[in-house]
Amino acid sequence: MTTPDAATALFHDLTGRTPDGVWSAPGRVNLIGEHTDYNDGFVLPFAIPHRTYAAVGIRDDRRIRVASTFADAPVEFALDELAPLFPTAPGREPAAPEWAAYPLGVAWALQLAATGSGAELRGVDIAISSDVPIGAGLSSSAAIEGATASALNDLWRTGLDRTTLAGIGRRAENEAVGAPTGIMDQMASMLGEPDAALFLDCRTLDAHPVSLGMAGLALLIIDTRVSHAHSTGGYRERRASCEKGAAVMGVPALRDVSVDDLPRARELMDDVTFRRVRHIVTENQRVLDTVRTLRESGARAIGDLLVASHASMRDDFEISVPELDTAVESALDAGALGARMTGGGFGGAAIALVEEGAVQAVSDAVTAAFAASGFAAPHIFTVTPSAGAHREA
Ligand code: GLA
Repeated sequence: MTTPDAATALFHDLTGRTPDGVWSAPGRVNLIGEHTDYNDGFVLPFAIPHRTYAAVGIRDDRRIRVASTFADAPVEFALDELAPLFPTAPGREPAAPEWAAYPLGVAWALQLAATGSGAELRGVDIAISSDVPIGAGLSSSAAIEGATASALNDLWRTGLDRTTLAGIGRRAENEAVGAPTGIMDQMASMLGEPDAALFLDCRTLDAHPVSLGMAGLALLIIDTRVSHAHSTGGYRERRASCEKGAAVMGVPALRDVSVDDLPRARELMDDVTFRRVRHIVTENQRVLDTVRTLRESGARAIGDLLVASHASMRDDFEISVPELDTAVESALDAGALGARMTGGGFGGAAIALVEEGAVQAVSDAVTAAFAASGFAAPHIFTVTPSAGAHREA
C-alpha cells in the first residue's frame, strides 16, 4: 500500500468513513547553513521526496483525535483541553506521547493564531502515515507539522499563508514538544519547490528558490542510523552558547557578527564559546558563498564549501559523531565532490555530492567503511528537491 493510501485506510479504520481530504508535507535536507537559523542567519535546505500524509475529517463535536501508522493507539482530547496542556512545562509529565504532541501542538498553536478571526474551529479526526525516516535528521517532525497545519488551515478556514503556517509548526515544536529548534525545517517543508533549494534569511523570513544546476550530479543521503533528539542535551547547550556569544559581542544575534569581528570575539570570550561563535559566523558566510557559487557555476563548484562546513561542525561546533565523520571521509575518499553532516547533529545523516555515474561506487565505499569500523550498516539513497506542503486529494 502506498503511504497516502495508508493514511486513508487508517482514517477509515478509525472512523468508518472516508476523509474530507488528504494533505501532505515533505521532510527536508539541508545543503548548508547548520545551527544558523536560531542565530537569525542564513540556511539553504530543500524539501525531499519523502512525505508525511494526513487524512483528515471534520467531526460533529469539538474533540480532536489523532492516529498514526507508527503508533499503537490513537490519542484524543477536547479542543478546549489543549490550552492547559501547552506550553509543556519543563519537568512536567508530558500530557500526550511525543509523536502526538506534534499534531496536537499544531492544532493548539493554530487555534491561538485564529482566535477572534471568525474561523470555524471544529473537531477533527486525523490519521497520519509517513515515509520520512524518523530520527535521521530529515525533519520527520516538520513534515507532520506541515501536513497537519495545511489540513487544519483548509478545514478550519483560517486562511493563513505558508510562512505563518511554518511559524505555527515551529511553535508546536518549541512549546508543545519542548525542542528549542529554529524555523528552517518548517519553512523548507512548507515552501519547498521541485528543482530548487530554498535560500532563507531566518531574520526576515525572506525566501528565494535557488536552482541547483545538478545536471549529471546526484545528492546522496547517508543515514547513519544513529538516532538523535533535539529536545534534550547538546542542541540546547549549543543554542545557549550562541546566545552567550551574542551577548558578549553586544549584538541581538550572531547574524550581526562578521568574519572580520572574529579576532575581537576571541579576546572577549572563553575558547569554547569562541569556537561556537566562529562556526556560526563562518557558516553564515559559507551559505552566502554557496548561493553565489550555485548561481555562477552550478553545484559542481560547491564541494569545498560543503567540506569546510563539515570541518567547522566537527571541530568548532562539536556536533559530529564518528559515524558521520566516517560517512563524510569515506565518501570523499571514493570521489565525492563534497560531503558534510546535515541537520542538528549528534547522529542523523550526512550528504554527499557525487557524479551520477559514481553513486554506486561511493555508496559501496561508505558501506564498506562502516563495516570496517564496526558500525551498523548505513541507509544510503539519493534525493532531489521536491514540492512543499499541499493538498493531495
Ligand atoms: C534541527 C532544527 C533546525 C536547525 C537544525 C540545525 O534540524 O530543527 O531548526 O537548527 O537542527 O541546522
